[in-house]
Amino acid sequence: MEPELLQPADLPDLLALCRAAAWNQTEADWQRVLTLEPELSLGIRAEGRIVSTAVGFTYPALNATAAAAPLPPPLAWIGMVLTHPDHRGHGHARRLMQRLVADLDRRGFSLQKLDATAMGQPLYEQLGFVAEQPIERWKRDASAKRVHALGVVEPFQAMPELDASAFAWDRARVLPSLLAAGDGALTEGGFALGRPGAVATYFGPCVARYPAAAKRLASWFLARHGGEDVFWDLLPHNQEARALAHSLGFRPVRQLVRMVRLSPGVAEPPRRDDLIYAIAGFELG
Ligand SMILES: CC(C)(COP(=O)(O)OP(=O)(O)OC[C@H]1O[C@@H](n2cnc3c(N)ncnc32)[C@H](O)[C@@H]1OP(=O)(O)O)[C@@H](O)C(=O)NCCC(=O)NCCS
Repeated sequence: MEPELLQPADLPDLLALCRAAAWNQTEADWQRVLTLEPELSLGIRAEGRIVSTAVGFTYPALNATAAAAPLPPPLAWIGMVLTHPDHRGHGHARRLMQRLVADLDRRGFSLQKLDATAMGQPLYEQLGFVAEQPIERWKRDASAKRVHALGVVEPFQAMPELDASAFAWDRARVLPSLLAAGDGALTEGGFALGRPGAVATYFGPCVARYPAAAKRLASWFLARHGGEDVFWDLLPHNQEARALAHSLGFRPVRQLVRMVRLSPGVAEPPRRDDLIYAIAGFELG
């Protein structure tokens, strides 16, 4: 049972895998992965079905600002590390992760990151990942108090300069694909996207220069999705993001650890986590 590349024909298996684990990913989420990263979408098949997966998602480096500065490394984000409950403990995730990390190393991805659950963390540590910071899933129940839209919010347009200073890698491929699957908005000082989920509607990514902009964006989203359960994944070091989520009726429901695997001598470009109000997803960073 060696890792193989996932194919569009595997979609029913991939969705069944997510449903068995109560994960939030939809068909559109898997299609994005298979379309954008066919060479880094790996699975293991048992009894004719894909029972375990691991996927790499790549972000090109942004151009270095100073002419003499070295080009920062591109980023590989690892996600969808999932084994069907009936097939756990047979080494599938280990084989997939070993192969994925080796593929990424060979392609020159000297910087690899992921958001680890407590179940996944020991395996990642054995592969050289170290903890970077905590990350939390917050949830707002469908029954929470109604939120009204406030301030001026317009249809989504890319804000590449803001996103570059916050996220630090080029998300030009990913953001349009997230928009196509859901909603997006722009306001003075920030942007936000959201998309449907199998368990709860998903708010994120949201990038904003200041809390008032993030509040306008989150209120816009919640006014459109009143009466739905909503997930919002945030970096708890960003106190403004926590405070805003809390004030809008969200509560923390899961804690994960953001981990990084960095080749010796490689430096991460500067980024601004304080501008990231909501991440794009545990599988996307
Ligand atoms: C984490 C997960 C992907 C591991 O998949 P798997 O195919 O069973 O993993 P492997 O058999 O390759 O084992 C790899 C490591 O996972 C851990 N692990 C495996 N089975 C475990 C169990 N029943 N309880 C706790 N840890 C376990 C161990 O650290 C193991 O390493 P070891 O063999 O040295 O003890 C799987 O448990 C899973 O899908 N969990 C739910 C989703 C999740 O949390 N995914 C990780 C997202 S970051």
